[in-house]
Amino acid sequence: MDDSVTAAWLTKAVVDSAGAARDGRTRALFTKLIEHLHAFVREVELTPQEWMSAIEFLTATGKKCDDFRQEFILLSDTTGISMLVDALASGRASGSTESTVLGPFFTLDAHDVAAGGTIAKEGSGYPLFVSGHVRDTLGRPIANAPIDVWETDGTGTYDVQYADRLGPDCRGRLRTDAQGAFRFRGVLPVSYSIPSDGPVGAMLSALGRHSMRPAHVHFKIEPDGYVPLTTAIYVKGDPYLEADAVFSVKPSLVSDYRRHEGAGEAAERGCSVPFYTLERDFVLAPVSVPA
Ligand code: BEZ
Ligand code: FE
Repeated sequence: MDDSVTAAWLTKAVVDSAGAARDGRTRALFTKLIEHLHAFVREVELTPQEWMSAIEFLTATGKKCDDFRQEFILLSDTTGISMLVDALASGRASGSTESTVLGPFFTLDAHDVAAGGTIAKEGSGYPLFVSGHVRDTLGRPIANAPIDVWETDGTGTYDVQYADRLGPDCRGRLRTDAQGAFRFRGVLPVSYSIPSDGPVGAMLSALGRHSMRPAHVHFKIEPDGYVPLTTAIYVKGDPYLEADAVFSVKPSLVSDYRRHEGAGEAAERGCSVPFYTLERDFVLAPVSVPA
């Protein structure tokens, strides 16, 4: 057997080793993964040193993860895989608001927030008043829909990035009312750097890439009977809209965050000037019932 015969035999042997997998989809995924990975190794003639560097990189990525830091999601996002999976899935909910990345900063400990309540501690940033409706693809209101929202504070930092985090900040869990309406007070989001002090940051720097994301507020809306929506609303005019480190901006998700300077209006809202407003509706597709 010469080397090329050995290499070809190896791919077939590994693929065949999954022949007894109980689940067909698992077998198909494993087969394609091995075929593509082996083809990659052959095409670039990967050296043992390069493969060991890759293993060290993945090991470091795993070690960087904990309850509040998800380096693998960062890796998936910065390599465009998250958005590729999203693009393939989004055809399944046609007519609905477009989706985008979840990112690594969603947490399960957000507080329930009453209509009009605040998700941000005083002094976290410029006041932002967000309001809108959640409707189905026929324009009918979706009542009592749970909505998770989360965002950075005015310095571009998520609460989980503070070592002395005492609890959730700039995040909350809301519900729509009978008309499908929701409203809350947050802070004006700003553009920010994704965490760059780990292996993914080292990768970006080795590739000559920056780590900035355009300002946005995240929304996760998951009422029963509808295709769940994970999305974000970006700030019109942000300098990073065309150069997002995680390739996640879709034009339909860019909105006007309006600036207000009137002292009277601010007094009515119980805030300082300047303050900002965002009006934004969301559309969800019903889960189709199999015939
Ligand atoms: C975020 O928007 O929170 C985010 C998304 C992807 C990578 C890092 C952060
Ligand atoms: Fe974000």
